[in-house]
Amino acid sequence: MTSPHAAQIRLLLSAALALFTFTVVIGILNGTDLVDFNHKALLTHVHVGTLGWITMSVIAASFWLFGLGDQSGKDASLIRLLGYATPLSITAYALAFLTTAGVVRPLLGTLVGLVILTTFLWTVRQAQGRTLSVPHLGMLAAVLMSVLGAVLGILLGLRLAGNESITIRTADAHPAAMVVGFLVPVGMSFVEWALDGGSVLRKAGRAGWFQIGLPVLGGILVIIGLLLDIVALVTFSLPFEVIGLVILIVRVRPAVMRVSLTARSTARHGLTALVYLIVNLGILIYLIGKYFSKEIDPPVHLLLALDHSIFIGVMTNGILALIMRFRRPVAAIVDDIVFVGLNAGLAVFLVGLLAESAPLKQTATPIMGGAILLAVATALPALRGSTNDPSA
Ligand code: HEM
Ligand code: HEM
Repeated sequence: MTSPHAAQIRLLLSAALALFTFTVVIGILNGTDLVDFNHKALLTHVHVGTLGWITMSVIAASFWLFGLGDQSGKDASLIRLLGYATPLSITAYALAFLTTAGVVRPLLGTLVGLVILTTFLWTVRQAQGRTLSVPHLGMLAAVLMSVLGAVLGILLGLRLAGNESITIRTADAHPAAMVVGFLVPVGMSFVEWALDGGSVLRKAGRAGWFQIGLPVLGGILVIIGLLLDIVALVTFSLPFEVIGLVILIVRVRPAVMRVSLTARSTARHGLTALVYLIVNLGILIYLIGKYFSKEIDPPVHLLLALDHSIFIGVMTNGILALIMRFRRPVAAIVDDIVFVGLNAGLAVFLVGLLAESAPLKQTATPIMGGAILLAVATALPALRGSTNDPSA
């Protein structure tokens, strides 16, 4: 089944690659301690990464998954509109992060929120009457959670712009809604189809519904717990996350056993994304058990390890796999360097963060960042005019 929205998907993926360059360059300069960035620049590093790279690619993935086999062309103009509105609104919002903490920021945040909401409404409508695979369920849940996360982000922006009637607890609830609530289900979705392309055509069984439903429930508990300051709810969410992950591992085990690390396929990215999802939940359990449950602020280096394990380990592996589907092939050596540089560089980066070792961090960031820049430089031309058939 081909994708009727392939042109818009390629446009979104190209814009995501171009924007990601900013995050990566700041990351390299920061990690090698060549430049000390201010809060605004770091927040732009964060949101160009989370919105420009991750959310934009998730929207592209929704167009793919929820457009599969739909040849009616009925939503072509809406998809075209979203194809332009997404990069434009996200770029404007990123510039707001770079320049202001005033009311313009939540205003532009609202524009991005509307784009995410429209995508969610479209996916819900497309879901009706179609075979829903586990990757479809993960994507639906994720887009819903990113709507909630965006609302919290807009409220946080308004609070930081001076509206004291909004609780400052949104400062904890917004990142948690996004990093746990949004990225865990979307990560599961990317892991599964990257490991096994045919999975998007198989109807989800009961185990699949639990696999996605439980972490979503866990994410909602975390959000409520943080907003209402009920620590027990945050701790209570952990078994939901863990059971969801265990179900995923059991379900994808046969596909994992077939992965060859030397074959240039999406599957090896799916495997490393799965490994980093396990690492991410391991760090989350440790953080909640040792710090959040005792109402102690966790050390920044642990939060950074938590964040980058999912942003890079899970999502960047998953998005690169998505891009491989829609681009022309590139030289084999390029795919190998990107795969090894990204994953080995990230492993060393995480060990450097966990062990608070500046030399490890300084060594790892150019390797990981360089591998991503190579992916950007080669994928951009390979997406242009590609006729690669993105069949499932
Ligand atoms: C989707 C991509 C990414 C996201 C969402 C992301 C997110 C973040 C966040 C939330 C922070 C903390 C900012 C703060 O202190 O307020 C941060 C810091 C940092 N990021 Fe990233 N990041 C991404 C990619 C990268 C990449 C590709 C690199 C390296 C090549 C990198 C290197 C760093 C470094 C070195 C720091 C500061 C660490 C420290 O203070 O010790 N990041 N990032
Ligand atoms: C419409 C979408 C979004 C809006 C309106 C928004 C808004 C905000 C605002 C206003 C802040 C606080 C900035 C400050 O301290 O001055 C923030 C921080 C943060 N956001 Fe978002 N955001 C959005 C999307 C996302 C996404 C998709 C993610 C992750 C997947 C994310 C992760 C974070 C993180 C980790 C922080 C804390 C950064 C730090 O202090 O180092 N945001 N966001």
